[in-house]
Amino acid sequence: MDTPIYRFKELASTNDEAMRLAQGGALAFTAVVADSQSAGRGRNGRAWVSPGGTGLYASLVLHPTVRAGDIPLLTLLCGLSAAEAIRETTALDARIKWPNDILVNMRKVAGILCEASIPADGDPIAIAGLGVNVNTLPRDLPERPLFPATSLVAESGHCHEREEILSKWIERTRHWTRVLESGGAREVVAAWNALDALRGAGIRVTQAGGPEVNGTEAGADAEGRLLVLAGDGALHRILAGDVKLNV
Ligand code: BTN
Repeated sequence: MDTPIYRFKELASTNDEAMRLAQGGALAFTAVVADSQSAGRGRNGRAWVSPGGTGLYASLVLHPTVRAGDIPLLTLLCGLSAAEAIRETTALDARIKWPNDILVNMRKVAGILCEASIPADGDPIAIAGLGVNVNTLPRDLPERPLFPATSLVAESGHCHEREEILSKWIERTRHWTRVLESGGAREVVAAWNALDALRGAGIRVTQAGGPEVNGTEAGADAEGRLLVLAGDGALHRILAGDVKLNV
């Protein structure tokens, strides 16, 4: 079944509009897309620079009917779907840095921000927001020390259709949500692990209020946690944190 795509010239944040629609009863996979955002948000309170005419800024309403233990997999699933959409529409080797940064040639082209709300009298609502630097020139992107920002045009040498990436992302997110809802958590994680950008790399993970963990990146586990094998043989399972390369 096709669900509506609401299009805007500019929004503060497509995630906010999608949440507003969801709270008003919008169906799962209702999409919101804006040509530009005046207050685009990234993970951990960062801003997501959203110039008009060049980037894809979109959010999807999700009404997940998954086991509570599978909820963290929802965010991985949205990143997996974004990486697949970019691979299929551009032929670039898009990979995922846990939890859901999309990298091409170890530079960041896209990110996912998942936000949830649990109404007192209703089912949980999740919003998945996708930002992709599609035809943006690198000089218009913010500086990032590690995994520098890049765009699809910079990596491939030609422009790409934002609409194609959007419809492929919706299609892949529908697919993986169906898989997860029918008990296919292992399948989701296996597909995510096959596109893991940092598997086997030396990494450093900083966790809010937790210790810094150093070791070898060993993929995601069945619950979506990042596995890090430390030098002393201990296997750490990270629920939330920021991953950097150990250089
Ligand atoms: C990140 O990598 O930090 C996540 C970036 C997510 C940006 C997208 S753009 C569409 C949606 N609306 C927002 O305000 N943020 C997300």
